[in-house]
Amino acid sequence: MQTKGAIGIFDSGYGGLTVLKEIVHQLPQYNYLYLGDNARAPYGNRSFETVYQYTLQCVKWFFEQGCPLVILACNTASAKALRTIQQNDLNKIGPSKRVLGVIRPTTEVIGNYSQTKKIGILGTTGTIQSNSYLIELEKFFPDIKVFQQACPMWVPLIENNEHHSEGADFFVKEYVDALLNQSTAIDTILLACTHYPLLTDKIKEYIPAHTKIISQGEIVAKSLGNYLQRHPEIENNCLKEGKIDFFTTDSTADFDNHAAYFFGKKVVSKHLDLLAE
Ligand code: DGL
Repeated sequence: MQTKGAIGIFDSGYGGLTVLKEIVHQLPQYNYLYLGDNARAPYGNRSFETVYQYTLQCVKWFFEQGCPLVILACNTASAKALRTIQQNDLNKIGPSKRVLGVIRPTTEVIGNYSQTKKIGILGTTGTIQSNSYLIELEKFFPDIKVFQQACPMWVPLIENNEHHSEGADFFVKEYVDALLNQSTAIDTILLACTHYPLLTDKIKEYIPAHTKIISQGEIVAKSLGNYLQRHPEIENNCLKEGKIDFFTTDSTADFDNHAAYFFGKKVVSKHLDLLAE
């Protein structure tokens, strides 16, 4: 018999906490297990193979902890590892379990936010180069034109708590200008990296007042709620005690200091040594 477990929430580092925050807000009844692979973050500039191997290792760990469902709350991992894990690995490592990402739920609704049908996507180099957003959006909103810009300096700035500095202003303006220079009709900007909500106020300084900035947390949380309603075979295996556990592959002291900015409240984490495996 399948034992019950927490819903796993994964990110390369802290970014997934912006998603977990919204998930807990909308679905407080479930248990959650968060893992940030901070020791190997950022993933954004790493190769497909590396992101896949790291993500797979973490998914296996979640399954060993009894999680019936894992959300890759990381666009880079969703773009580079999710499909292979779903198609090649799941039947070997957990045929009755599920792994979901953040790109599909976002592309299912993001087209509804734009009046001009011109959407800008800001993400890591890995997410942008994968063209996952272009491919998925074409399926759901074929009349939407998508403009993309990689922002390779943003995750390192945020992970190092430098996102309020003047140096951050330089890089925020650089990438936002590069996106908006592609089309003056962009009226919706998607933050296609779960770290970027921390830069929202700075991004607003460099975009026209009417331009919408969309973060993924609420969208992913709503989609998860729908998914659980439609899949009782998974939902029945989710523990419902309202408990959250946090793990990091790096220093717990650093994680606990930084995590509060992303999660909105104090976090106490445990260490997981994946590097030794
Ligand atoms: N939060 C991850 C994402 O959504 C950041 C990736 C990274 O580690 O560079 O893409």
